[in-house]
Amino acid sequence: MGPGALAEILRDLPEFAHPDLLVGCAAPDDAGVYRIRPDLAIVQTVDFFTPVVDDPYLFGQIAAANALSDIYTMGAVPLTALNIVAYPVCTLGTELLRGILRGGSDKVAEAGAVVLGGHSVEDKEPKYGLAVTGTVHPDEIITKQGARGGDYLILTKPLGTGVLVTALKGGLLDPRAEKALGETMAALNAAAARAMREVGASACTDITGFGLLGHLREMAFNSKVDVEIEAASLPLLPRARKLAEEGIVPAGAYRNRDHFASFVELAGEIATAELDLLYDPQTSGGLLIAVPEAKKDALLAALRRERVPRPRVIGRVAGGGTGKILVRGR
Ligand code: CO
Ligand code: CO
Ligand code: CO
Repeated sequence: MGPGALAEILRDLPEFAHPDLLVGCAAPDDAGVYRIRPDLAIVQTVDFFTPVVDDPYLFGQIAAANALSDIYTMGAVPLTALNIVAYPVCTLGTELLRGILRGGSDKVAEAGAVVLGGHSVEDKEPKYGLAVTGTVHPDEIITKQGARGGDYLILTKPLGTGVLVTALKGGLLDPRAEKALGETMAALNAAAARAMREVGASACTDITGFGLLGHLREMAFNSKVDVEIEAASLPLLPRARKLAEEGIVPAGAYRNRDHFASFVELAGEIATAELDLLYDPQTSGGLLIAVPEAKKDALLAALRRERVPRPRVIGRVAGGGTGKILVRGR
């Protein structure tokens, strides 16, 4: 089942309409938004997945950073979270689960939010994640639909987590690259989101399973614009390019390419490995922010002030369109 198959099933469900439903299933965004007072809306999201690393504490941190991220994309601040656990207690014992939950709860605490509870079921394959609630002023919601012609596109984390996780599982990753991989996946998008809220932005989403090009396509399509990116400007994790050249590319990258390639146009020389990384599914990836030209420098300065390690301008919104992406090579 390719990306989007599930989305199609969900689209067939009856839609909710309510005067206070500000962002729901009809407008596919990173999180839903519901107004509870004229000056206050709650933002809700849920995400969980199977372990991407062996270290239970690190996996818990990554799952929580990933779940919290969809709150940050909306310009919101997280307040509460609920653990979602599927776990084979009989075969794996409780110690690993303790590590996972401790990682998750430390990450939620780092975000300034609290874990209120959760729910667990027995399952053959462990899965962990959280349902997160945050708040935002209804006038300050940022969605993926607001990108406008002339906006700059900024990415706040390097790409390549899918490639590096694949290498890690095959025992092909050196300790330095493994450390960088763990750090980037466990890093909250909180600092980048603070900078974005301070300066303001046209649109935002985060880069996860559909890869950069999949999520960029969603932003461009929903904003009714076409976009251009520079392949050479893309920040990559250490070893990502080399590993992709060696063919260490997860199946998900090819599924993303099959699904999204018809919206992508290439200009100039682009190496296969470089393109594979643009489709590489990310775990707990960075924010992709569209920002008006007049605010671009202020946003970059705010990101640096917030110590976001590697924010990069990766391209621009060309103008009104149908969601096409032009990738410029050398
Ligand atoms: Co998201
Ligand atoms: Co999500
Ligand atoms: Co229950």
